[in-house]
Amino acid sequence: MLLKLAVLPGDGIGQEVTTEALKVLQVIAQEFGHTLETEHGLVGGAALDAQGVPISDATMQMCKDSDGILFGAVGLPKFDNAPMDKRPELALFRLRKGFELYANLRPVKNLPALQNASNLKPEVLAGVDMVVVRELTGGLYFGKPSERYTDAEGRKAIDTLPYSEIEIARIVRLAFELARQRNGKKRVTSVDKANVLNTSRLWREVATEIGKENPDIELDHLLVDSAAMNLIRKPAAFDVLVTENMFGDILTDEASMLAGSMGLLPSASLGTTRNSYGGQFGMYEPIHGTAPDITGQGIANPLAAIACLGMLLRSTYLLEKEASVIETAIEQALNEGLRTPDLYQPGTTKLGTTEMGNAIVERVRVAVTK
Ligand code: IPM
Ligand code: MG
Repeated sequence: MLLKLAVLPGDGIGQEVTTEALKVLQVIAQEFGHTLETEHGLVGGAALDAQGVPISDATMQMCKDSDGILFGAVGLPKFDNAPMDKRPELALFRLRKGFELYANLRPVKNLPALQNASNLKPEVLAGVDMVVVRELTGGLYFGKPSERYTDAEGRKAIDTLPYSEIEIARIVRLAFELARQRNGKKRVTSVDKANVLNTSRLWREVATEIGKENPDIELDHLLVDSAAMNLIRKPAAFDVLVTENMFGDILTDEASMLAGSMGLLPSASLGTTRNSYGGQFGMYEPIHGTAPDITGQGIANPLAAIACLGMLLRSTYLLEKEASVIETAIEQALNEGLRTPDLYQPGTTKLGTTEMGNAIVERVRVAVTK
């Protein structure tokens, strides 16, 4: 199979972790007889510096001509005070909106080998295995008006939180489908703030209607504040959590602590574009950021970027075997005590970014030749 990918490493550790992911993908391609064709593009601060925009039209086109996008991370402190059109993050928003990638899937699993790596007690973490389905192209991130202005009273700013029934229905439907496919608790938890927000009351209404179309799946509703608490109190009770854009952003950073480190969590952003293999066009990115504090030190955890490959191979190419070889290799490495510094504990083996990438490559090779 021809694997035609756009690679957008971005800024900071985005570069370092994407390099490792590509190494692993190259080996998968070799071992399974696929042809990997990658084109690299600049995004974020890298693109602003070189081209004056967070992502150029040419790079957007390059992405469009590919089966999917491997994305690293964007954002650098030096752009903190820049206006929105000169901010690295705008690249993400153009990609998400431009390709209508409305569904962001963020799986969160606690591996027994990492139960002691989290700040939470092992008995709270046992059995944690959920997917957060974050709506990605609506809500506060894209609502208009969104601006800053000054009037007689002084400085003011406004952001707008819109949602339509269509936007809510498609993401909630996807959450139900996922709950059905997963070998899980067959439960969808819809998270909103229906005691305050109009958009949330619409969200709950639509989710309830779709719940009735899916009687085999249990539906419950949680207010976002209570969801935040329950993610820590009783995380193993969740199966599929579906929520709007901003709540999903916040809750997934929280949920990453259930896995042990932000450096472990991959994500897939999917839309409705199908390819000739029956898979979906998607963008795959670790949920972590650019980590300027550790950039260039060779200590970033590449496992989230590598785990993105599993999601890519499964969702875009329907290559289940290849996906599970990668996921198993990651679990193996962790079970053997291999750790980047974010997860290191006495008694485990500390590795750098490249060494961890190599460790996964080796385990993939062994698994395939066995
Ligand atoms: C994420 C990130 C982005 C978001 C930032 C970088 C704009 O936090 O993907 O979770 O808020 O969506
Ligand atoms: Mg985030």
